[in-house]
Amino acid sequence: MSSSTSTKDLYNGIEFPTWIELENLNPQELYLIQKYLLPDLKTVEAGTNGGRILLEMQEMGFTDLAGFDFVPALIDRAIERDRSRSIDFQVGDAIALAYATNSFDQIVYLQQIVCIMDNTQARLRALQEAYRILKPGGTGLFSFLSFDSRHSQFIYASYLKYLTTIRKLRGDNRSMQELPWLKLGGKFNPNALFDRPPYIYWYRHTEICDLVRSVGFEIVAIGSDPQIEADRLVTSDRELATRDLAGMLYVVVKK
Ligand SMILES: C[S@@+](CC[C@H](N)C(=O)[O-])C[C@H]1O[C@@H](n2cnc3c(N)ncnc32)[C@H](O)[C@@H]1O
Repeated sequence: MSSSTSTKDLYNGIEFPTWIELENLNPQELYLIQKYLLPDLKTVEAGTNGGRILLEMQEMGFTDLAGFDFVPALIDRAIERDRSRSIDFQVGDAIALAYATNSFDQIVYLQQIVCIMDNTQARLRALQEAYRILKPGGTGLFSFLSFDSRHSQFIYASYLKYLTTIRKLRGDNRSMQELPWLKLGGKFNPNALFDRPPYIYWYRHTEICDLVRSVGFEIVAIGSDPQIEADRLVTSDRELATRDLAGMLYVVVKK
């Protein structure tokens, strides 16, 4: 089984209908796209699914758009939904992309695509590939599941304690940042109560800063939902540590 086969099976199976017909951007996506991206620059979206984000960007006036996903049937639907036929949708795996080095001015890796990859190596490869396809001076938008935000919420802290106990009893030394999917196919996933796969990776803030820098990116802005609401993303890990964090972690990078 390749590193991304099981995630692929999910999106080919139970998760197939979840995103495919969605429309509109959420407020965080809209904020990041409007504030950090330019509509006339060549832009690619990773894990585009039914093309929701790119179709909205097209409406916003973006003219040179591309998107990839590793599930061919999702790409077929994205192509159908693009009535202008001007978005370059392709089947591709984020960990080994066919795009040439330095292909894009802007890259969009939202909806936590890196976190849903199956293992550490695949997550690192995806970030290295993202760096490779971005032009020097180009901009990238990323979002990550935030372990620290989730851990600070009582209900999740209790769930984590419960999982820690189960894993101790089973002698399972899986990282506590690898958590079962709480929702599958748009519904609560009861297997999460039994600590069964699939798992998704929740990053610590310091870890994500180190990781994106380790592949070569410079962080230009970082923050979570409250910082976006206040239009106050910060620029350093130290500043971030002093802020109240909630929801996802958004990172704007430059190559
Ligand atoms: C959470 S959905 C987000 C869909 C879309 N970006 C949106 O926001 O509407 C994640 C998507 O990433 C795709 N994906 C996951 N891992 C991938 C990989 N290694 N390469 C390409 N696509 C991947 C899945 O097939 C799925 O369509």
